[in-house]
Amino acid sequence: MKNFLMAAALICTVMSCGGGSESSTTSTTDTASSSSTEEATTDAKQVFLTLNGNDQMQYDLNELRVKEGQQVNLTLKHSGQMPVEVMGHNFVLLKPGTDIAALATAALEYKDNDYIPESDAIIVHTKMIGGGEQTSIRFDAPAKGTYDYICTFPGHYALMKGKLIVG
Ligand code: CO
Repeated sequence: MKNFLMAAALICTVMSCGGGSESSTTSTTDTASSSSTEEATTDAKQVFLTLNGNDQMQYDLNELRVKEGQQVNLTLKHSGQMPVEVMGHNFVLLKPGTDIAALATAALEYKDNDYIPESDAIIVHTKMIGGGEQTSIRFDAPAKGTYDYICTFPGHYALMKGKLIVG
């Protein structure tokens, strides 16, 4: 039984399940018809999001939701302890249709640039951070749609990926 549980936990880690249940961010309520003040903030010009990365090469959220036209204030935190050289994390937002594997492969050549390749497929990105660090960016939400985000540290995009949904 114990072995089974350990195996299950390992699989869970590999599959990154439970890593980020949907709509756990603030301001995700889809309410076009609200009159309460609390829900009115849904239509705010700004939205604040926090995405966390850890030493297990995972984001805590696989889905982020914003609204078209909102100014997005994204803070990326690294809750782990490993240095940026071995467990670096960033947030790289990609245009729809981007070949993620190809972009991540191209990023390998850009170690001196935080693993950010020269590519017009990148909408916005944070800097690369290590354990205990955090960094923030601000950008205007792009047009309605679904956008992939990844960490471009070598090998990380397989697990460190999610969707930014602009509604
Ligand atoms: Co990473």
